Amino acid sequence: MNGVEYALMTDYDPGALEIIKSNINMNRGHQKTIYQVEMLEWGTGIPSWVAKEMSRIVPADSNVYNMLILGTDLLYSVDIVAPLISTVNAFLLSATENKSLFILVSSFDIGENIQTQFDQCINSCGLIADEIVPLDVAQKVCRIQYIHRPIS
Ligand SMILES: C[S@@+](CC[C@H](N)C(=O)[O-])C[C@H]1O[C@@H](n2cnc3c(N)ncnc32)[C@H](O)[C@@H]1O
Repeated sequence: MNGVEYALMTDYDPGALEIIKSNINMNRGHQKTIYQVEMLEWGTGIPSWVAKEMSRIVPADSNVYNMLILGTDLLYSVDIVAPLISTVNAFLLSATENKSLFILVSSFDIGENIQTQFDQCINSCGLIADEIVPLDVAQKVCRIQYIHRPIS
């Protein structure tokens, strides 16, 4: 990831974490990005090691703390929507206001029930979800959403 100082990659599944690690090793090249791979379960708050790591990377007096959260195909069941959005919201709140973004990519139709649950969670956290690219399965176009806090 050229130009990215630090990338934290997470999952709660040990097998997925092993795949992430081998992908990093295969694609590392000559980049200077620091990668950290950790187990993180949505809906359980932000673990203390994240805050520690962030304060190590971002100087205490810095107000330029840009956080980009990336996710693909995470909305596949109604049950996981609330924990996912709660974790994303906690990360967005932990960074400098209005300077962070969650980019969510979906390659399949999530269906009405998951969409309703997603909309409710986004609203109750006071987040905004902008649809940047609509899903078009026939054309193999993925849906892209920008999820962020309101700009004050
Ligand atoms: C459908 S897969 C998508 C994986 C990958 N982003 C991709 O596009 O191939 C969903 C991922 O979310 C992870 N996941 C599901 N529930 C989770 C939870 N409660 N906390 C953390 N990760 C979770 C799964 O282990 C899985 O890796």
